[in-house]
Amino acid sequence: MDTQIADMNTDQEVLFPGRVPQHIGIIMDGNGRWAKARGLNRSDGHRQGVENLRQILEACGDFGVKFVTIYAFSTENWRRPRAEVQFLLRIIDYYIDRELQALHEKGVQLRHVGDPSELSPRLQRKIQKAIDLTRDNTKLVLNVAFNYGGRAEIVKAVQDIIRDGIPAEDVTEATINHYLYTSGQPDPDLIIRTGGEMRLSNFLVWQSTYAEFYSTPTYWPDFDREALYKAIEFYSSRERRFGGVREDQKP
Ligand code: FPP
Repeated sequence: MDTQIADMNTDQEVLFPGRVPQHIGIIMDGNGRWAKARGLNRSDGHRQGVENLRQILEACGDFGVKFVTIYAFSTENWRRPRAEVQFLLRIIDYYIDRELQALHEKGVQLRHVGDPSELSPRLQRKIQKAIDLTRDNTKLVLNVAFNYGGRAEIVKAVQDIIRDGIPAEDVTEATINHYLYTSGQPDPDLIIRTGGEMRLSNFLVWQSTYAEFYSTPTYWPDFDREALYKAIEFYSSRERRFGGVREDQKP
């Protein structure tokens, strides 16, 4: 389900001339190392990471990406020092306060991907209000993976399927898809990981089965529009076969 921006926006400037991923997942790694390299605190790195989101979301919109999922806080992040956890929890609060109106005006639909139940009731209400406000926006869907883990998401889906009394023989891949936080959305075509690691780290485990994986050593706060362009260029050059064979290799 790739969109050719050149085909779609014939009356607009072509910002990316190739195949554009419809859905990008981003593992925003390297905030701590970015800060350390500058003699700053880890929290300064996270702060700069939030700042960076604005230009990347804008660029995603310009390039014709329709869905972006950002890994903001994983179920494993609770293991970090208490002060850092508190800071990361405050970041989403701050992000909503500072960016919600601008995101709404730009047509961004906010979605939460993850378990809200471990967040404070106040934060849960705030997230829900942001979701409700932006529900009908269609320019770009921004999934914020917060208190998210891919395995936990699958476990929850299985539990909900059983609770709903769906007979085992009726459970298909479509059933599982329907019970995930990303229900109704296309799978990610491209996963970008900044900070150099080559792991998925429990991010969109089910959904990223056929995604292209792009890892760059660039730390997240330095990952700019040009870096995103390069990642999309990489994606554009890949041939996706979804387990099949190339046309010219068919017998
Ligand atoms: C990884 O860097 C980054 C995180 C755990 C958090 C990323 C969060 C943001 C950029 C802000 C989230 C935005 C919203 C909207 C809530 P790291 O600390 O693991 O870096 P390191 O590997 O260099 O130590």
